[in-house]
Amino acid sequence: MSTPNQVRIVEVGARDGLQNEKTIVPAAAKIELIDRLSDTGLCTIEATSFVSPKWIPQLADAAEVYAGIMKKTGVAYPVLVPNEQGYERARAVGATEIAVFTAASEAFNRKNINASIDESIARFAPVIERAKADNVRVRGYVSTVLGCPYQGDVPLADVVRVAKRLHDLGCYEISLGDTIGIGTPGKARAMLKAVAQHVPIDALAVHFHDTRGQALANILACIEEGVSVVDAAVSGTGGCPYARGASGNVASEDVVYMLEGLGMDTGVDLEALVQAGRWLATLLGRANGSKVGLAGVRSTTEETQ
Ligand code: HMG
Ligand code: MG
Repeated sequence: MSTPNQVRIVEVGARDGLQNEKTIVPAAAKIELIDRLSDTGLCTIEATSFVSPKWIPQLADAAEVYAGIMKKTGVAYPVLVPNEQGYERARAVGATEIAVFTAASEAFNRKNINASIDESIARFAPVIERAKADNVRVRGYVSTVLGCPYQGDVPLADVVRVAKRLHDLGCYEISLGDTIGIGTPGKARAMLKAVAQHVPIDALAVHFHDTRGQALANILACIEEGVSVVDAAVSGTGGCPYARGASGNVASEDVVYMLEGLGMDTGVDLEALVQAGRWLATLLGRANGSKVGLAGVRSTTEETQ
């Protein structure tokens, strides 16, 4: 499998990054975050979730946020949708790309969306049918691909089966999520190879949380296996409220820094991304979760010259 020259970053900070924040971030600040990200050259920015506001209060303002963001030409703004109710809410404000989400672990899926894997996929089928008719693109997420906070080990066969089902239903891309950041590079590579035997590698993305500091190493292993789409969150924010111990996503700044250092093209203006990440860390009143955001893109000597 050849290493790609170009890697697309799917920026999930405004959704995965914020969904776990206890203090409600005002809609205007979410809009400003997404608008800042739109000016960095990112071409996929997940904007929000049309899930139940009782389950994710932070994103109860999904309609206001989606309606308020600048929709830059050439940038996709997917939104999470768990069911037909979510689809209708998303379409009411003009969403043109959605993401459905399920898991490889029954126990996690039950906690996260109150459904078995089969039930969740049965809910997606009519959503995907409507999306096809409406010319709406559908991305699919599979969570807990390297381990589950409730079930423990997750058999590779379960990951493969769920990813293939979402692809067969019509998802153009399947994002493989290490929800609790439990994986290490050898396991990440083996998981990707197993899925890639049943879903084309060009239709796969990887989504690592950095809970145990393995995310960049895992991403590199998967890129060496040929994956060319990487999910990441500016400033390393994030976590799933229904996955104990799921800390931040890998920071987008750190992923871009690594990939550009390897000579790969991400199309992202790293300085602008770093500025957006610093702005977000200040807004949330917490330490920046990006090492590059903390240190700067260049060495201190260069920066002070
Ligand atoms: P439920 O309680 O089983 O749903 O939740 P229900 O159909 O029985 O409805 C209950 C209430 O929710 C009703 O309202 C519905 O109208 C309402 P009530 O009559 O009680 O007033 N409702 C909705 N409201 C707004 N929008 C909707 C919607 N659907 C129902 N779409 C449900 C089932 C799926 C709705 C719920 O479990 C839910 O919203 N879960 C979302 C959880 C979530 O967002 N988790 C985080 C995202 S996944 C993630 O982070 C992982 C990922 O990053 C990858 C990785 O890291 O692995 C993607
Ligand atoms: Mg996630």
